[in-house]
Amino acid sequence: MRLLPPNLGTFREATTNFVYEGHLIPKGMKGAEERERGNEERGLHWNVNSTHKNPECFPNPEKFDPSRFEGKGPPPFAFVPFGGGPRMCPGKEYSRLKILVFMHNVVTKYKWDKVFPDEKFIWAPVLRPTKGLPIKLFPHNKSN
Ligand code: HEM
Repeated sequence: MRLLPPNLGTFREATTNFVYEGHLIPKGMKGAEERERGNEERGLHWNVNSTHKNPECFPNPEKFDPSRFEGKGPPPFAFVPFGGGPRMCPGKEYSRLKILVFMHNVVTKYKWDKVFPDEKFIWAPVLRPTKGLPIKLFPHNKSN
């Protein structure tokens, strides 16, 4: 969820003038509208991936290191696979539970191998496997 977040983020409207990395973001700017006008470089889009790869929030950001979530964990609004604030994903807890139950059953009941070991993932527009990620399942216990 941190290294390869399924959702890249979304658009926002600036509620006040502010400067980000030297660029003035004027009050009222909306990402989607600017894109429709052909001003792609003027869009206001908060991005999950660049937040998750920010070394100020996640030192050595490319490293898979679950221990970084121990103790106090990352600073607020740094780990945002489901967004944050009032428009945060309402499917968050449902998705987390569903993924947990799915992973628990797959890992405890089966050994599994990818059909295409080097299958690539692409962003289109969300992260997805190019061949549908087929897997072969081998039950640990034949009665499963
Ligand atoms: C792993 C699964 C999922 C991920 C990573 C994900 C991620 C996100 C993200 C990043 C946003 C933008 C939040 C923001 O603007 O701050 C969002 C919004 C939203 N998500 Fe999800 N989501 C997931 C599953 C779901 C599911 C299962 C549902 C519905 C059952 C759902 C419904 C929505 C809705 C309705 C919004 C728009 C909320 C709003 O703008 O007020 N999502 N999601």
